[in-house]
Amino acid sequence: PITKHILAAGVAAAALMGANVASAQEVIKFAHVVAPNTPKGQGAEYFKKRAEEILGDKVKIEIYPNSQLFDDDKVLPAILRGDVQFGAPSLAKFGKWTKKLQVYDLPFLFKDMDAVSCFQNGAKGQELLNAMSGKGLTGVGYWHNGLKQLSANKPLRLPEDAAGLKFRIQSSDVIAAQFEAIDAVPQKMAFSETYSALQTGVVDGQENTWSNIYSKKFFEVQDYITESNHGLLDYMVVTSTKWWDGLDQEIRDGLTQAMNEASEYANGLSADLTAEQRQAVIDSGETEILSVSPEDFAKWQTAMKPVWDEFAGDIGQDIIDAAAACN
Ligand code: LMR
Repeated sequence: PITKHILAAGVAAAALMGANVASAQEVIKFAHVVAPNTPKGQGAEYFKKRAEEILGDKVKIEIYPNSQLFDDDKVLPAILRGDVQFGAPSLAKFGKWTKKLQVYDLPFLFKDMDAVSCFQNGAKGQELLNAMSGKGLTGVGYWHNGLKQLSANKPLRLPEDAAGLKFRIQSSDVIAAQFEAIDAVPQKMAFSETYSALQTGVVDGQENTWSNIYSKKFFEVQDYITESNHGLLDYMVVTSTKWWDGLDQEIRDGLTQAMNEASEYANGLSADLTAEQRQAVIDSGETEILSVSPEDFAKWQTAMKPVWDEFAGDIGQDIIDAAAACN
């Protein structure tokens, strides 16, 4: 019986050690709302690949795309609870946490994606990664998607064509004001509900990037897309400050390296993916693409730009000026 007890103790100890070994592996969840075949989807996959290459069995990265785990309004509280470690909501989705990131939603702020990179890599853009540190969230990188296009079931050639139409928007007060400026009716709605809202006519239109219009098939349920490039849809990858600071140095360094490489990868990929998916939408023949002449572009600009003044106090004029200086 003594041998039996010793044996049993040995088995128990081995089981305990096994448990310790298992818990030494950091399981890291990354939740997002878009399809895998998008700049963000590909960035997340690349982060997983590199983190697991760099850190081996010390980490296991699980990616949850397509709002499988959380919609964007739920993911930040989930990060703070520790239910998920990384999210990358659109910069339009942080309004409840900080007003400063509203800068990114100002219509016609950036003339192209190079201007966006210039601002994000500059001093003010980098400072904004810490805009939510008081709320327990740390920004670890910016990822591009691209510039937004307008779509609807009627042709939107001039700002007045949008009057009275309902548009699905991301949860941003700036974007709401942008649509109100052209007498349209904005409706905040989760990304995951957008296709069916367009299909059933709950809303008449929406604004989004070529990548999102393509990968979520919005073009199949919208008769017209106006190539307006009127605003930005980009992301901040965020994590819990407490979790991040509490990681072993080696793991945090490895994840930092993987994240930096993933940011570079996703940001390098976004322009090609945008061009490819724009072409796929055109080739589908399911929707008509309306290009915007320089004269009409100026009219959209004039109609929407008053929104800047409305939000300058909340955002900070210095931040807006730094962004505009990148054009
Ligand atoms: C949207 O809600 O339209 C976007 O924020 C989705 C995304 O993550 O690109």
